[in-house]
Amino acid sequence: MMTEKIAIIGGTGLTQLSGPDIRQQGVIATPLGETSGQVCEGTWQGQEIVFLARHGHPHSLPPHHINYRANLLALQQLGVSAIIAVNAVGGIHADMGSGRIVIPDQLVDYTWGRESTFFDGKFKALDHIDFSHPYDAALRTRLLAAANQCELSVCDFGVYGATQGPRLETVAEIRRLENDGCDLVGMTGMPEAVLARELAIPYASVCLVVNPAAGKSDGEITMDEIRAVLAGGMEQVRQLLAATLSR
Ligand code: HPA
Repeated sequence: MMTEKIAIIGGTGLTQLSGPDIRQQGVIATPLGETSGQVCEGTWQGQEIVFLARHGHPHSLPPHHINYRANLLALQQLGVSAIIAVNAVGGIHADMGSGRIVIPDQLVDYTWGRESTFFDGKFKALDHIDFSHPYDAALRTRLLAAANQCELSVCDFGVYGATQGPRLETVAEIRRLENDGCDLVGMTGMPEAVLARELAIPYASVCLVVNPAAGKSDGEITMDEIRAVLAGGMEQVRQLLAATLSR
């Protein structure tokens, strides 16, 4: 029987995960470089899990300097069967205010200059993969069922707009994203999602809205405001992850 091993990639506000029983950790070297930081292997809710902080721990790597390819290759080397990504985002859609948890179903990529494929003709021969539906349907369903089970209100749709950062967007940029159909904005959703697909690892994202996107509230966006939402919001995300693993 194939045993399950779920990887959790933690983002801003989730550089460490309390709950799992960690038995091993270390930076992993791959042919494309090293992981963002220590990769933790252990058990949680009776499941084999792997945890990796995308920005390193402490949080130091900016979104455009993360070696997404090394992170994904390392998770493949460890034999993970699925990846749940956690992303802090800005909310654009009216239903996606601060503190809201969203399981996005689509994305638009605005990032540039990132190593965004394994099929570059050097590491692997050129190939064109289907990416019509970037997030794994079964994994999304499992997350939504787990949210339902622990009576956590989550939003079951959302188009994630992946921007370059590390600065936040202008009001006009958010207006453009909204016109493009984006409901959320974040800096790390791509190329992580496509690299997982290239490796055929089911991938879904749990987004926590930590601020209204630029122009969606009266004031400026401050890190203090973001940190205040992260504290309570990530605890809810942690509960959702635990419930998902136990299903
Ligand atoms: N924009 C982009 N990325 C983000 C934001 C935002 O407003 N908030 C958290 N990550």
